[in-house]
Amino acid sequence: MKVLIIGSINTDFVVTTNVMPQIGETVFGSDFEILSGGKGANQAVAAARLGAEVSMIAAVGDDEMGRRETKILKQENIDTTGIYIKNKVSTGVAVVNLSQNDNSIIVVGGANVALSVDDIRQQQAKILAADVILCSLEIPLECVVYACHQARKYGKHFILNPAPAQDLPDELLLNATFVTPNLIEYKQLYNLQADADIQTHLLNNSNDNYIITCGKNGVLYKQNNQLQYQNAFKVNVVDTTGAGDTFNGALAAFFDLSLKDAIYYATAAAALSVTHKGARNGMPFIEKLKNFINEYQ
Ligand code: RIB
Repeated sequence: MKVLIIGSINTDFVVTTNVMPQIGETVFGSDFEILSGGKGANQAVAAARLGAEVSMIAAVGDDEMGRRETKILKQENIDTTGIYIKNKVSTGVAVVNLSQNDNSIIVVGGANVALSVDDIRQQQAKILAADVILCSLEIPLECVVYACHQARKYGKHFILNPAPAQDLPDELLLNATFVTPNLIEYKQLYNLQADADIQTHLLNNSNDNYIITCGKNGVLYKQNNQLQYQNAFKVNVVDTTGAGDTFNGALAAFFDLSLKDAIYYATAAAALSVTHKGARNGMPFIEKLKNFINEYQ
C-alpha cells in the first residue's frame, strides 16, 4: 500500500517515575531518555515497518532535533521530501511521564503547528500517488480538513485518528473513510459521560465509520449496522506510548485486506508495540508480526 501520513514529528523526553506528581508537588524520577515520537511520525514508522510505501508531509524546526528526527525517518525508508523546515520555531517536543505502566503526555507543537494548507497543496503529487492518507491532530485542523477534501476529491481512502481529542466539524467525521478514536477520544467527540454505554452509542450513531480502540479490551467497530469486536492480544505491558499510533499505521498498511483482517493485524501490531519502552521500540517489522501471530495461542 502507498500510505501518505500528514502529521506531527516530535522528540519525546521520557521520564519514568513511581508516582505521578500532583500540582505543586515534586517527585523523584528513576529514568530519563530522549526518544523519537510524534503521532504522525510514529504512524509512518509503524506502516513502513509492515511493508507499506510511506511518505510524509510534516514540519520540523531548523534545529538538531529536527535533523535527527528526519534522518531517523529516512532510515526507516520513509520518503521525507515533504518535511518542511520552519524558521523561528523548534521541532515539536513531548514530555512523556511514565508511571505504573501508563503515561501522561504534554506536547508542545512547535513546527508541527506551523504546517500550512499551502505546504500540503505544494505536495499534491504525494496525495495523487497515495492509496491511503492518514491524519492525526497534532497539526492545524485546517490542514486535516484540506487533506480530507483532497482525499475525497481524488478518490483516496482517508483515516482520521482524532488524537489528541478536540471538537471536530461533522464534515470531517462524515467524510473520513474511518475515524479511529480511543475510548476517551470517542467520549470527548460526543460529550459523553465517563460511564456512558459506548456500545449502545456506537450502535445508534449514524456514522458507520468508527473504529474505537479500547486498550486491553481490544477494538470495537461497526459493520453493516452490527457491532464487531476484536479481542486484544495478551502481552507483558511495559509502555503503552505509541500503541494507538502503531494501530493506525498498521491499519493503513493493511488497508487492502478485509476490514476484519486489517483490524486483527493492527491489534496484534499494537500489542507488540507495548512490550518495549518508547513509542517505536516495540513496533514490529512484518516478519516479527507474522511470527507473533503464528505463535500466539
Ligand atoms: O502517541 C504517542 C505520541 O504522542 C508520542 O510519541 C508523543 O510525541 C505524542 O505526540
